[in-house]
Amino acid sequence: MDNFVIHGGKKLGGEVRISGSKNAALPILAAALLTRERCVIRNVPDLRDIKSTFDLLNHLGKKCFFEAGAFTVTEPGRLKHDAPYELVRRMRASVLAAGPLLARLKKVRVSMPGGCSIGVRPIDIHIEAFKKLGAESCYEKGDIVLTGAKLKPGRLRFRFPSVGATENLMMCAALLEGRTTLENCAREPEIEDLAAALRSMGVEVEGAGGPRIVIRGQSKLRALRHTVIPDRIETGTYMLAAAAAGGRVKLTAADPKPLGALIKALERSGTKVTCGRDSITVESAGGRPRPVNVSTAPHPGFPTDLQAPWMSYMARCRGNASVQENIFENRFMHAAELLRMGASVYISGNKAYVHGVEELNGAPIMASDIRAGAALLVAAGAAKGRSVIRRTYHVDRGYERVEEKLRALGMKIERVKG
Ligand code: EPZ
Repeated sequence: MDNFVIHGGKKLGGEVRISGSKNAALPILAAALLTRERCVIRNVPDLRDIKSTFDLLNHLGKKCFFEAGAFTVTEPGRLKHDAPYELVRRMRASVLAAGPLLARLKKVRVSMPGGCSIGVRPIDIHIEAFKKLGAESCYEKGDIVLTGAKLKPGRLRFRFPSVGATENLMMCAALLEGRTTLENCAREPEIEDLAAALRSMGVEVEGAGGPRIVIRGQSKLRALRHTVIPDRIETGTYMLAAAAAGGRVKLTAADPKPLGALIKALERSGTKVTCGRDSITVESAGGRPRPVNVSTAPHPGFPTDLQAPWMSYMARCRGNASVQENIFENRFMHAAELLRMGASVYISGNKAYVHGVEELNGAPIMASDIRAGAALLVAAGAAKGRSVIRRTYHVDRGYERVEEKLRALGMKIERVKG
């Protein structure tokens, strides 16, 4: 297993190019299951989770390959309807195969994903919504089996704006001839990107990015042709790495629009942010940031996926800052690692109270999920001395060529075999 060895405390500078969005690419690759036609998807990042999707699609009967830099999907034979535990446990986003397969084959069997280090993460909202469109469900040996003989377009309201449930239902409705209305939808930019991909297949989609999405499905869909949006969470992570370590960093091929909540918080903390049409420049004032409280919320609120790196940044604030997590019930695992670096964090329920310290010190630390790993990179880059981050495979699930990009910004980071 690989480790990252970082000698921190050095200012960052230069430019880094942002990759395509992991969380936009995953549902869009699943949408290839909606058609027999050859699908071509560009700007797909080279990540472990994408490799897992590649394996899942191949298992289901698709053939995936990279051609001229594009993720290409064809369908040489019959599709299968099962996503087994072996694949789902590697990546819970495998449940996104349920919507397209249910609509296409009228039957799907998906292993229940189970919890992960950030929370229990049930899929009841997905299942309830499929049932509202006429699906029937039962549990068998740890799998959920959905059948759709009576599936038809309709109207439903999610009890919570779940990102995955919104995506799954959009894909299912895309292949149901007629009008489906989804209410209380997630409003994340990745939903808008999925809507754009579905439109390229001939589906009419209105309202994506807002709470009500109307889909006019078709019985047969065209080929999918799409370029994935820039990764807003990767962008935010590099913005925080620069703010925490100090210096001036420009992010290119980035989209500032979905990062309003982070940009506002960074500016309040004293970091300068300048936005271009497809670039963002972050310039730290030098010294310790002003304390700023954040509280995570569905988009356009402060993203839960940036909560951990934000805490690393606040660890050196001049005063006290709170960080409240409202989306996942167990997303503070990084705090214990920050304590090992000399941070002062006290957790009560879903709120972390950070008392800023003068300095963080390098230490051996361990990543517990993708964004906790990102938080440790941010902290180690800002800390004095040497840190060794273990379980880097979490980071590799979500950050393309991370050490190469950080090294290009001047961070002293190496990947070594552990
Ligand atoms: C997506 O997960 C992202 N993953 C997550 O990114 C992100 O943190 C999350 O949205 C919130 O923005 C992908 O896009 C692949 P949810 P998802 O359904 O779809 C509860 C990362 O690091 N819930 O909006 O699983 C759930 O337990 C990852 O890149 C139910 O109770 O998120 C959670 O508390 C981590 N029942 C909340 O809703 C359900 O059926 C939000 O979950 C579904 C969700």
